Amino acid sequence: MLAAGEREWTMSGEALRRTHTCGELRRSDIRKEVVLSGWVRSTRDHGGLIFIDLRDRYGVTQVVANPEPDTEIHRIAEKLRPEDVVTIRGEVNERPSGTRNTSMPTGEVEVVARGIVVENRAKTPPFEIADDVNVSEETRLRYRYLDLRRPAVQRSLIFRSDLCNQIRRYFSERSFIEVETPFLTKSTPEGARDFLVPSRITKGSFYALPQSPQLFKQLLMVSGFDRYYQIVRCFRDEDLRADRQPEFTQLDIEMSFVDEPDVQGIIEGLLVRLGDTLLGRKIQTPFPRLRYDDVMLKYGSDRPDLRFGLEIRDVTEIAREVDFKIFRGAAEGGGAVRALNLSGGGALPRQQIDALEKVAKDAGAGGLAWFKVQDGALTAGPAAKFIAASAQARFIEALEGKTNDLLLFVADKKRSVVAKALGELRMHLARTRGMIPNDVFHFSWIVDFPLLNWNEEEKRYEAEHHPFTSPKPADVPKLESDPLAVRARAYDLVLNGIELGGGSIRIHTRELQQRVFSLLQIDEQAAMRKFGFLLEALEFGAPPHGGIALGLDRMVMLFQGLQSLREVIAFPKTSSGSCLLTEAPSVVEARQLQEVGIRVL
Ligand code: AMO
Ligand code: AMP
Repeated sequence: MLAAGEREWTMSGEALRRTHTCGELRRSDIRKEVVLSGWVRSTRDHGGLIFIDLRDRYGVTQVVANPEPDTEIHRIAEKLRPEDVVTIRGEVNERPSGTRNTSMPTGEVEVVARGIVVENRAKTPPFEIADDVNVSEETRLRYRYLDLRRPAVQRSLIFRSDLCNQIRRYFSERSFIEVETPFLTKSTPEGARDFLVPSRITKGSFYALPQSPQLFKQLLMVSGFDRYYQIVRCFRDEDLRADRQPEFTQLDIEMSFVDEPDVQGIIEGLLVRLGDTLLGRKIQTPFPRLRYDDVMLKYGSDRPDLRFGLEIRDVTEIAREVDFKIFRGAAEGGGAVRALNLSGGGALPRQQIDALEKVAKDAGAGGLAWFKVQDGALTAGPAAKFIAASAQARFIEALEGKTNDLLLFVADKKRSVVAKALGELRMHLARTRGMIPNDVFHFSWIVDFPLLNWNEEEKRYEAEHHPFTSPKPADVPKLESDPLAVRARAYDLVLNGIELGGGSIRIHTRELQQRVFSLLQIDEQAAMRKFGFLLEALEFGAPPHGGIALGLDRMVMLFQGLQSLREVIAFPKTSSGSCLLTEAPSVVEARQLQEVGIRVL
């Protein structure tokens, strides 16, 4: 009998090499002599006959060890445990009728073992290697290499690989070239914190890992590479959520001599291609273009989920006339009063309405005013008595209220507070009341973003996208006089309520770039220190250019119908930014710190 690690040799003296994968054998292979290698998924002892399910990433094949002709093989099979690695030589047989398994592609055949080599033994794994096993994510990530044996996780990584292949094919067919850009570089402002890497040679100096290749791809345009793309890792030190990882992958694109529709068209074409080749669905283009102001009003978010209605309506003008102080105060104070109509929500018990109020308050609202509609009047909410019959009728008309509807209002002196609270309430209602259809992909472009927003805490303007985004030419004269009214040549791609990508036409003259930096309070010196190389390059014949980046991990997640980026990244980080497998980040040796001139506080 062979011990673990020993190989069986063929008559010609060669070691057994697999001839087929575990997902390959069919009826047409019956009577063939084959060699399979894989992991033991399970063994079943049926009084003499031992059945081994052998698994690799292609599938599962049933192997039978029969004590009759060969007790030796039977004795080895008896000792096999889940996850042992074996190579099996045998003959493909038809399974006896009644034992065929139609749910398995290899279910019509089995391999009758003639030789078994135990390549390696496995310890009992901390969880069963199967989909839908009840095991904590922590344990799965701690033993990620075992978790990655599970068919579902393998499917998502294989899909990801296919997706990258399709992307590369699509872009190379269109004369794009893939150029790699540095990881050890200078800070690129995408709104997150940088990960820093200390320099050993220049002590006290640091590289920053790129938040995106933004500046390098613009430089490539200056160099004349008019169509660039890259599948590239980006690094951002920010608070993590299900759709955010500290290192993630972008499909990054930049093009010269283009306007917005050119970039959008390339992306729409890509998504149609991916729909045809990988998703088996026709993706309709062009995607709707929705204005930022409109979606903020109607959906309370710049990444609206458009798979369902439940639109927010503005009723500020009506609210101005009512006695209810919260409403009138918001309207007269330059704010807004807006509302949602939850059709049929009049039947909700008070307790559930209070839960909705909590959702609105958690999202920043001062409260949630609610009313039930009954025969053309507002009833049952705490504030109904403050609203005259005529105003009640106008609210009901504006919100298309019918008897038994529930109207939910948020008022605030700040419009952004109202938008956010109702936007989150809208999503909460849709999720909890099953209003979101499962099998729909709703793509849209969000356009006409403001160039800047006002950071109240720091009392300064910030770029809504990044500081290299071009203002609309018609708005350039307003840059200094009315900065918040300036719109950007930016566009975001949204799929089912998630921001899949963002991009813009860029500033390509030094003069305009400098003006935008000044607005952002980046003075000339600071601009030279941080982005001097870009400003300089803009003076050496920079072509007009623009581009976009799509989140590749998010794309895989959404296309696979998954809920978390951790499902589509081979070795992801937890929400606290650590890798449970390698235990990174970790303490380093004192000597290493000394070498880079760092002392830990
Ligand atoms: P932006 O910052 O919008 O644009 O990033 C582009 C896309 O990258 C994805 N993304 C993320 N995915 C996972 N985890 C994260 N932490 C994360 N952060 C962003 C999103 C997002 O839409 N240089 C510009 C692009 C350009 O202007 O061309 C940029 O990086 O899907
Ligand atoms: P109060 O007078 O604070 O008891 O509030 C009366 C009703 O108005 C309650 O239902 C509150 O939830 C609601 N309310 C309070 N603040 C707001 C607000 N900013 N927007 C909408 N409704 C509010």
